[in-house]
Amino acid sequence: MLIHLQRTLILAVIVVLLMALSATVETDAQEGEWKAPAWADDLVNPYANDESALKNGAEQFEIYCSPCHGHEGKGDGAAGVGLPVNPKNFSSPDVMQQSDGALFWKLNTGRGNMVPYVLLLPEEMRWQLITYVRFLGEKTH
Ligand code: HEC
Repeated sequence: MLIHLQRTLILAVIVVLLMALSATVETDAQEGEWKAPAWADDLVNPYANDESALKNGAEQFEIYCSPCHGHEGKGDGAAGVGLPVNPKNFSSPDVMQQSDGALFWKLNTGRGNMVPYVLLLPEEMRWQLITYVRFLGEKTH
């Protein structure tokens, strides 16, 4: 019970910190197409279609990403819907047609309210998250 409460509190703190961080760059939010550089397509996801990566990715997604992207990756998280640029549905053709490498680049680099995760999460975890993002996109297609 106590551990559960602690976990909830820690999650709440993380969400508030992420929102504060994104608020500071709110004025940088850019409209229009967001394209990863062509070289990103050559990055190979070492965890593509990996079952255990999917499980880890799902757990991390719930913590770090679902507040904005929603539990199913539809872009409808409570903190995502009010943003000037809303997160896209991962099952939209726009996202589906991008390579794992391109999505990985975006996860690392960020834009506007999308936090640059390159320094926040280990590389292994970032790839596992991309594996899960892919899975969500295909699941709800
Ligand atoms: C504070 C809200 C927020 C959080 C937390 C967040 N994102 Fe995002 N994300 C966004 C927004 C907003 C965009 C769209 C940015 C744009 O188009 O300018 C985005 C875009 C993306 C994209 C690019 C999709 C596309 O449009 O091509 C990926 C991939 C992504 N996020 C993955 C993640 C993952 C994985 C996590 C968790 C580690 C995460 N995001 C956490 C707000 C968030």
